[in-house]
Amino acid sequence: MVMNKKSINSICVGELRHEPTTQPHQLPLYATSSFAMKTVEEGIDIFTGKKDGHVYSRYGNPTVDIVAQKIAMLEGYDLENVPYAYMTSSGMSAISSMGLACLESGDQILTQGNLYGGTTELFNKIFGSMGVETIFTDLNDLENVEQLLKDNPRIKLLYFETPANPTLACVDLKEITDLARAYNKVTAIDNTFPTPYLQRPFNFGIDFVIHSTTKFLNGHGNSISGIVLGQNEKYQKKLWEVIKLAGTNGNPWDSWLLNNGLKTLSVRMDRHCDNAMKLAQFLEAHEGVNYVNYIGLESHPHHAIAQRQMSGFGGMLSFDIKGDDSEAMQFMNRLKLATMAPTLGDVDTLVLHPATSSHLNVDKDLREENGITDTLIRISVGIEDVKDIIEDVRQALG
Ligand SMILES: Cc1ncc(COP(=O)(O)O)c(C=O)c1O
Repeated sequence: MVMNKKSINSICVGELRHEPTTQPHQLPLYATSSFAMKTVEEGIDIFTGKKDGHVYSRYGNPTVDIVAQKIAMLEGYDLENVPYAYMTSSGMSAISSMGLACLESGDQILTQGNLYGGTTELFNKIFGSMGVETIFTDLNDLENVEQLLKDNPRIKLLYFETPANPTLACVDLKEITDLARAYNKVTAIDNTFPTPYLQRPFNFGIDFVIHSTTKFLNGHGNSISGIVLGQNEKYQKKLWEVIKLAGTNGNPWDSWLLNNGLKTLSVRMDRHCDNAMKLAQFLEAHEGVNYVNYIGLESHPHHAIAQRQMSGFGGMLSFDIKGDDSEAMQFMNRLKLATMAPTLGDVDTLVLHPATSSHLNVDKDLREENGITDTLIRISVGIEDVKDIIEDVRQALG
């Protein structure tokens, strides 16, 4: 090595560049806010899009982009062309970025009343204050949906979540997207619960697929991030501008953690599905339970819809406990294996009381109308030994 003539201080401060001679086997974590240009001319070419390359991590980062590409390959598995995909800082920022890309003041959103609580709040409070109104309805009542489309020409976006959090209500993706297309409307779906391993909405012609990658896609509960994928080219440029200018981009560290989780998605999902089915059957037979929402059970009103459009029933269920909300609280406090935590999709079993957490700020009437009662308990069934999960739930039910 040639002796460096710089001062000790400059050596400390300076960045040594690694020129790789071999490819790293695992995805490197590019923990850098910016990228050094070799020449001014190269910088101009990259900034103006004449040449591929990274300049600033808010506009793109190799770790983040690779993970987006992988999820695009999963969501676009059955398509000829891989959809475009952008990582975002959270699931909520994925939904808001998509909305900002395709909605303007005066537009309306048509959606279901049983969305994840945060999404309902985002539509009502934030989009509402920007002049975008939201209409909530039963999206499986197609006659009514068609009438709403006729009566409200300002509806621009049909937004679905299927299966929905926490009731597991499903929307028939083929029927609703066919109708939306007939009226020239934009469609978007939150595919967080099933993941592309169990449901791939682009096959039905949907414009945008959104995820909270915080959940099953990561699987280990150690990062917050989201993704927007699209196959409608009309909105790609605007979506990219929104993410860049509103700064809703994903970050390399969370993407890197997500990349680790993605490697085991299929094995985890298989086990989530098996365990959830067994726990749902146990709960359905238990005398302390009013009813169980699990789409794998024939008793779920949307079992047939799920069967048509999903290749498995997922790891999420909810159940209504007999008694009142104090019964629900006691059940949760007695659990020993399962953790009470306001998230889902981790490898371990997680329990939540939606009425006092995820849906706390949703209007009580809208919540109850859609089955999110004070006695409803949501379980994200983990991949532990199912005997231990069932035993824990059995002792907590008393
Ligand atoms: C279905 C669904 N979509 C979106 C979100 C929001 O995701 P994030 O917390 O990553 O912003 C959640 C959060 O629980 C969710 O359950």
